[in-house]
This record gives sequence, structure tokens and C-alpha cells, in this order.
Amino acid sequence: MSKRSLVLALSITTKARHILGTVSRALAALFICAGLGGQTLTAGTSPRPIEGFEAPFVFGRFAIPADNPLTQEAFELGRRLFYDPILSGDNSMSCASCHEQERAFTDGRALAIGRDGEELEFNSMSLANLLWGPQLFFWDGRSPSLEHQVLEPLLNPFEMNQPLDALVAELSADPVYPAMFEAAYGRLDEHSISRALATFLRLLISSDSKYDRYLLGDAVLTDQEELGRKLFMAHPDVKTSLRGGNCIDCHSQFVTAGFSDGFDGFSNNGLDPDADLKPGLAATTNYGPDFGKFKVPSLRNIAVTGPYMHDGRFDTLEDVMAHYNHGIVRSKTLSPLILEADNLVADPTAALGLRLEQHEIDAIIAFLHTLTDQTFLDDPAFSNPFEGEPR
Ligand code: HEC
Ligand code: HEC
Repeated sequence: MSKRSLVLALSITTKARHILGTVSRALAALFICAGLGGQTLTAGTSPRPIEGFEAPFVFGRFAIPADNPLTQEAFELGRRLFYDPILSGDNSMSCASCHEQERAFTDGRALAIGRDGEELEFNSMSLANLLWGPQLFFWDGRSPSLEHQVLEPLLNPFEMNQPLDALVAELSADPVYPAMFEAAYGRLDEHSISRALATFLRLLISSDSKYDRYLLGDAVLTDQEELGRKLFMAHPDVKTSLRGGNCIDCHSQFVTAGFSDGFDGFSNNGLDPDADLKPGLAATTNYGPDFGKFKVPSLRNIAVTGPYMHDGRFDTLEDVMAHYNHGIVRSKTLSPLILEADNLVADPTAALGLRLEQHEIDAIIAFLHTLTDQTFLDDPAFSNPFEGEPR
């Protein structure tokens, strides 16, 4: 094992052990906070895990495809490929062009910029904890696995525009890659390219935010963050004077990733009227009631991943909260969970939204900041391996 690989394996194991050791404290909080009640909190098994790899099992289940075990060699290969512009047709663009580590693997733009400098249809998604699920990928859920997902930007003519046979030829002529592929998969082919990238994505694990440490009993939230946490977790009920932000109804899995089995993790959160709704999930399922539903994204590292929403329409978390507070737009597929969530007595003439007070909105935003995992954003194991190397 190289020094770097050891660092990766150890950092995961240490975190996992830490979490395993303190799980009883975390569990009580989890059942309340993350809606995991009833779910079996054991990780799936993989045939040949990276040595010492134990996922923080409180995140839920995961499964590794039998033909793509997590190995150190595959991870290092996938990392190199992720950062290498050789992956695009004209060698100008890598995955990291749109997925920068310090922004939790987003790009800071409202809409991603394609190969020809034109804006694409969607906002780049943040990448973390893609291992847990099962989850579907992309805003409209059209990709069922990471091995499948990674080929899409590669082949997309507006993104990397790279025919796979040409890529295999280029990589085969490279001084470094053939040996790395040999070590990881015993061959250099299209299937190994997608498997290596998928392995890198699977190991982008973020589990050290202030909120994670709070769940373990290792950090204390400020009064404002604690108010924000409570509001985040509560569905408002005017009758019992329970005030709530309702966020957990959708951003519901462990530490607020919306992924869920099947198409459950998709929703219409009231951005547009019927006339402007984009197909969203319906583009994948061809099912009318899915029209306008998009993947409920993880809110992990959300403070560093703006602009927000599938089309990057909101620049700041303040803008996002203004939307949920008084900017909800009715449409046929608007989530009933949003429609019902109001902190004042229902008034059909009022703007649709939570109608929280300003200090409550500020508190939710303060809570969202506790989801930032600086360890993840700075982790050298996920950084550009070419830094300091000519390329
Ligand atoms: C031109 C910018 C761009 C490039 C290059 C790019 N991506 Fe993306 N990525 C995006 C955008 C935009 C989305 C959302 C697209 C959509 O939903 O249709 C996305 C979505 C994803 C997702 C889905 C995440 C989720 O939660 O569903 C993954 C995984 C991903 N990209 C990985 C990669 C990998 C690996 C590469 C390199 C092979 C790559 N991306 C190259 C812009 C880019
Ligand atoms: C009915 C389900 C639902 C509820 C309730 C909900 N959200 Fe969302 N949220 C979504 C969906 C779906 C998206 C993505 C929508 C899109 O881009 O079309 C989203 C997107 C977001 C984003 C942008 C994420 C990104 O990566 O761009 C933030 C931030 C956010 N929600 C925060 C919250 C907060 C805070 C609350 C509580 C005040 C909340 N949400 C309540 C479903 C919901």
C-alpha cells in the first residue's frame, strides 16, 4: 500500500470506528432526527472491500456491485481519471472542470458550462456519499448506477464528447495508465474506465461535519443552530403551536440526503407554475404524475455548493429560504407536504409558504452551515493527483 492509500484507508477506518464506538449515543438522536426508525442499520457486504474499509453504518445500507469491488488500485485510477482532461474529446475538460473539491464537487455556476462554452440545462450536482442508497443519479433520476452514470458526461456531445474506443486508444498509449489499469482490473477497456470512476465516486465519503460530531456527542450546537435543527426536523402544526420548517419531510435520509429506494427521493418543491414545469423525473419514467419532480438533493456541504436548485436559480441560502417561506408556486404535482406546511392559520389569499419569522429563517440557515464538512473539502485523498506534475 502506498502512503496515500494508507491515509485513505486509515482515515475511513478511524472515522468508522469512532462512529461505531459511539453509536448508542448517536442512535437515539438519529431515530428522531433522520427518520431512520425501522430501517436496519447495517451496511451491506461487498466481496472484496478496501482493506480496513468500514462505512459509518449509521448512514444506512449500501451495496457494491460484485464485479467492481472497492480496491485501492481502482480508487487511485478513478481519481486520476476524474482529474484528467484526457477524458474529453479535445482534452480540454475533466470531470473536475465541473466538480471542484473545495465546492463539495460543484462548480459555483448556476448552469454548468459545456465543452463549447455554452450553458447546459442543469446545475452541477455536489458529490458525496453516493455509496448509500439505493439512489438514482442526476436531477431527473435517469441513471440507475454509478458505473452507468459516469459514461454519460463522457459521451455527451455537449460535455466531454469522447467516443469510448478513442479514449481506450489514448489511455493505452499513455505512459502511466496501462499499468494502473492492469493493477486494478487486469485490462484496459471501457468497462474498467467506468468501474474505476465509479469507485472513486463511491469513496467520496463525507462524515465529519459539525452536525455529524453533534450526533456523536462530540460537538455542541449554538442556541441558534439548535433552534434551526428543531425547525428543520419539524412539520408545523398550528393547532398544537408546533413551529416547523418541514425540511426533513423530503431531505430525510441520514444527514439530509434525499435519496431513497425507487423514485421516492424525487419531489416538486414549488419552483414553477404548470406552464413552466420541466419534465424532471417524468423524462425518466414517462409517468404524468412525475412531471416537475426533481431529485431531492443532499444538503451536506450545502453552504459551499451555491447557486441552488436544478437550474441554479437561487444564489444564496437566504434566497432558498425566501422561496420556502413565501415563494411556493402551485402546480399539479406540487408536493402535498409543502402545501400543508404553514406556520400561520391557513389563509387562502396569502403567499404560499412556511411563513416563519426572520429569526427562525436565520436559525435554519445557521443549522445548514453545520452540515459543512471541512475535512472532506480538504481531504488530500480526493484532491487533484496531477498537482505538481506536468500534464
Ligand atoms: C460540463 C460539466 C460537467 C462535467 C465535465 C461532468 N459533470 Fe457531472 N454533473 C454535471 C451536471 C450539470 C450534473 C447534473 C446533470 C443532470 O442532472 O442532467 C452532473 C451530475 C453528476 C452526478 C450525479 C450526482 C447525483 O447526486 O445524482 C455524478 C455522479 C457526476 N456528475 C459525476 C461526474 C463524473 C464522474 C464526470 C467525469 C466523467 C462528470 N461528472 C463530468 C456537470 C458535469
Ligand atoms: C416537498 C419536499 C421538500 C421539502 C419539504 C423541502 N425541500 Fe428542499 N428541495 C426539494 C427538492 C425536490 C429540491 C430540488 C428542486 C429542484 O432543483 O428542482 C430541493 C432543493 C433544495 C435546496 C437546493 C439544493 C441544491 O443542491 O441546489 C436547498 C438548499 C433546500 N432544498 C433546502 C431546504 C430546506 C432548508 C427546507 C426546509 C425549510 C426544504 N429544503 C424543504 C424538496 C424539498
